Amino acid sequence: MGKRVAVIGAGPSGLAQLRAFQSAAQKGADIPEVVCFEKQDDWGGLWNYTWRTGLDEYGEPVHGSMYRYLWSNGPKEGLEFADYSFEEHFGKQIASYPPRAVLFDYIKGRVEKADVRGWIRFRNPVRHVSYDDGTKQFTVSAHDLVEDREYSEVFDHVVVANGHFSTPNVPEFDGLDRFNGRVLHAHDFRDAVEFKDKDILIIGTSYSAEDIGSQCWKYGCKSITVSHRTAPMGYDWPDNWQEVPLLTSVDGNTCVFKDGTTKEVDAIILCTGYKHHFPFMPPALTLRTANRLAAADLYKGVVFNPNPALFYLGMQDQWYTFNMFDAQAWYVRDIIMGTISVPDSAAREQDVVDRVAAEDALEDDYACIRYQGDYVKELIADTDYPSFDVDGANEAFFQWKKHKKVNIMTFRDNCYTSVITGTLAPVHHTPWKDALDDSMESYLEN
Ligand SMILES: Cc1cc2nc3c(=O)[nH]c(=O)nc-3n(C[C@H](O)[C@H](O)[C@H](O)COP(=O)(O)OP(=O)(O)OC[C@H]3O[C@@H](n4cnc5c(N)ncnc54)[C@H](O)[C@@H]3O)c2cc1C
Ligand SMILES: NC(=O)c1ccc[n+]([C@@H]2O[C@H](COP(=O)([O-])OP(=O)(O)OC[C@H]3O[C@@H](n4cnc5c(N)ncnc54)[C@H](OP(=O)(O)O)[C@@H]3O)[C@@H](O)[C@H]2O)c1
Repeated sequence: MGKRVAVIGAGPSGLAQLRAFQSAAQKGADIPEVVCFEKQDDWGGLWNYTWRTGLDEYGEPVHGSMYRYLWSNGPKEGLEFADYSFEEHFGKQIASYPPRAVLFDYIKGRVEKADVRGWIRFRNPVRHVSYDDGTKQFTVSAHDLVEDREYSEVFDHVVVANGHFSTPNVPEFDGLDRFNGRVLHAHDFRDAVEFKDKDILIIGTSYSAEDIGSQCWKYGCKSITVSHRTAPMGYDWPDNWQEVPLLTSVDGNTCVFKDGTTKEVDAIILCTGYKHHFPFMPPALTLRTANRLAAADLYKGVVFNPNPALFYLGMQDQWYTFNMFDAQAWYVRDIIMGTISVPDSAAREQDVVDRVAAEDALEDDYACIRYQGDYVKELIADTDYPSFDVDGANEAFFQWKKHKKVNIMTFRDNCYTSVITGTLAPVHHTPWKDALDDSMESYLEN
């Protein structure tokens, strides 16, 4: 069709965009030329595990925030691709909370089948994007790290899919610079075995805090203390786990909390979240949003309002992940291909206002899940992405939340029904807390 589209990032969101275009081509459509720029040497985004922290072998900031022994924190029945089921990939139904390696394999399986690897330029971080109001085109500048060559190319559309859980949000606490132990952010956490027999302090109460604490408990740390800014997580924790108010200061190994209590610890892990970070974007094209369900400035959650030829994928906080990225990618594809039209600026801005107001009115996590499920429904209704039972996926999330309340250390032993194939997942052969080997080979034995 003569158009050129740049996709920045080959994680689950960027790969969804490639698969969306490839599926249209498979049905006989005339698709644009798609070029995907990827900083790492392989696809999969965060799911492509690295032991490295800090800078990589080229001096680039390490993208990875995942760690060894990470298992899915929500049921796989909530994220299954509607066009590529777990049963199609593994040849059988598998248990509901797969370890990272298993989900990585599943993500790869769909794009290997679609044969889109050739569209990706690995080890090519994007350095700069600019827009020419006259030609109405973007210039994307990238660095081929292997050949150490910088170059620029012109595109009609840019799809930004570089993720937003990679640049750490790192608060300061009085005395951290004099702490006699290790201080790290969750982004740099790799192996819970490092903390065996240690007393650890975790700051934060969201998924990283809950899961890194649980990993450390599983692999034998001595005690876990979790410090909250807003409210404790409130699960029925094991005996060596306590929740305390916010850290106010550190003196040697002694941590002092807002209520005056203290705790001696060996390590402090800041599970304080991440920042949306687009160092390659000029200010006029930069998305500035909080980590929320109704992202700022994005019509339908994907079209950048100040410049509707630019798209951002996966920038919302996430209950839904892979299937939501698919819904977004199919929608963006159809805008680019001209089968979905984008309204004027006033209507786009009103769309965001309405989404923000609707999110602000939500009362609890269950309502948030329904809200994001409705968003997925809204997008897929306008495209040929295979329709699936989103209410059934919501239900898997509702059950997951209840199972966590019952027992935070056994919730991953439950199983749910696939909304794609209708099959109930088998019970995993070993309870999560005893399953120290998280290899794919071990997980698939059942
Ligand atoms: C610790 C952790 C655990 C998680 N666990 C789960 C889970 O259990 N289940 C779940 O569904 N979700 C989980 N998530 C959420 C996760 O955000 C999504 O699953 C998914 O990885 C998001 O996909 P993405 O493509 O948007 O971003 P990413 O996976 O972050 O991929 C972005 C890609 O962009 C590339 N990139 C970045 N900058 C550039 C550049 N300048 N030029 C070129 N390429 C660039 C990166 O190298 C990367 O490959 C987890 C997140 C974290 C941090
Ligand atoms: N598979 C898994 O098991 C797994 C594991 C880890 C992460 N993840 C994923 O990773 C993503 C990010 O999760 P996240 O937990 O890293 O980030 P997050 O959900 O954004 O949570 C950030 C936490 O940091 C706290 N915080 C921020 N600034 C602070 C400050 N100055 N002082 C004290 N506390 C502060 C927040 O507290 P307030 O509540 O007070 O704001 C909040 O508890 C999620 O999508 C999650 O699903 C998945």
